[in-house]
Amino acid sequence: MSGHGTPIPMTSRKCGPLSGEAHVPGDKSISHRSLILGALAVGETVITGLLEGEDVLDTAKAMRAFGAEISRDDAGVWHVHGVGVGGFAEPGGVIDCGNSGTGVRLIMGSMATSPIVATFSGDASLNKRPMARVTDPLALFGARAVGRSGGRLPMTIVGAVDPVPVRYEVPVPSAQVKSAVLLAGLNAPGQTVVIEKEATRDHTERMLAGFGAEITTEVTDEGRVITLTGQPELQPQTIVVPRDPSSAAFPVCAALIVPGSDVLVPNIGLNPTRAGLFYTLQDMGADLSFENMREEGGEPVADLRAKFSPDLHGIEVPPERAASMIDEYPVLSVVAAFAAGDTVMRGVKELRVKESDRIAAMAAGLRANGIEVEDGPDWWVVKGRGHGKVAGGATCESHLDHRIAMSFLVLGMASEKPVGVDDGGPIATSFPIFEGLMAALGADIHRDGGI
Ligand code: S3P
Repeated sequence: MSGHGTPIPMTSRKCGPLSGEAHVPGDKSISHRSLILGALAVGETVITGLLEGEDVLDTAKAMRAFGAEISRDDAGVWHVHGVGVGGFAEPGGVIDCGNSGTGVRLIMGSMATSPIVATFSGDASLNKRPMARVTDPLALFGARAVGRSGGRLPMTIVGAVDPVPVRYEVPVPSAQVKSAVLLAGLNAPGQTVVIEKEATRDHTERMLAGFGAEITTEVTDEGRVITLTGQPELQPQTIVVPRDPSSAAFPVCAALIVPGSDVLVPNIGLNPTRAGLFYTLQDMGADLSFENMREEGGEPVADLRAKFSPDLHGIEVPPERAASMIDEYPVLSVVAAFAAGDTVMRGVKELRVKESDRIAAMAAGLRANGIEVEDGPDWWVVKGRGHGKVAGGATCESHLDHRIAMSFLVLGMASEKPVGVDDGGPIATSFPIFEGLMAALGADIHRDGGI
């Protein structure tokens, strides 16, 4: 459990070749949006392949609290009976979003232009994260927010009674902020315009169009200008959630660094706003190919094949790629440790305000395991040691961050000595089947093993 339960220490040891197929769960970003947009449509939205991780389950609970009827049938298909744009009821209790920044920020946006009041809270990680980035633009619609100092949760949002549409330039590259503004714009009359200088994941735009909203994106000198016409009647959809590239990253990266590996990761969403890691790995000399490229449900999809790559080399990751791989830097830094030379990552300030400060968390754990790391406010450099030269031997703190925990477990699969994490519990937020899936490929991961 993320931040609520007893810590689950885990250890990963050097293993033989990883092989087989890795069927990773559904995309987390699309899963949250499926539930929220389903709740805002009139009628029944049917969702197959929903990620059943804690983050998404918390969003399902929240949508029920706002009045949607949500059920899961025996075949694992989810059914959402929405209340329509502007139809949210006022929740009777506090909305607990657990570990999920995406959940809380998107839900705040979706209720901020309805005349209701809701209080949001989360676990120790989420309650430290900045919310002003969302409440500032929501105030322009007429919503009010009262939270803890520094704009932290717990926080109450008083929805606007007479919302006005807004024009908002997102000051940080954040799909969560962009999406919160668009979701708020749904219940404002007229056109809401969001401008982003750097392209971030565009699932909200694609899905809003799929649900029948009038939404356009224009690429101009200012950046991407997204215009949404408010107060549509959203049409319920049948959604097949593609598998999550951010989860695929773990078996893919593990296969690249464990000698002899050959792993197929089928049906991975390869939306260009999400796929930056895979191109970066190819630039580093990874034996990684995209097979069977196709389009499913409006998203590009492929099967990824990753093989052990003995000649990885460090690169300067193009900073303009950062938004398209923002969640993948922790596991990239692990691959970088097994590459020859420096991997330089710039323009990544946002990593400091994720579920943890991901630069600090990874730098500390990598250093403890014998890898040199340099870091500054918005950059870091991993000094690769090459295959067979990563020491391991230390236990790392996961800081309530699923991706930090999984990254260090991948490190242990190819380092000389085992690598531990103090708490693997947060993995359940995004990739609840991680342990079993990696073990089936041949990984040696255990709970409470100690190193
Ligand atoms: C997400 C956006 C990103 C990402 C997060 C999911 C989304 O966050 O890190 O895991 O689904 O919109 P930011 O918007 O803070 O960059």
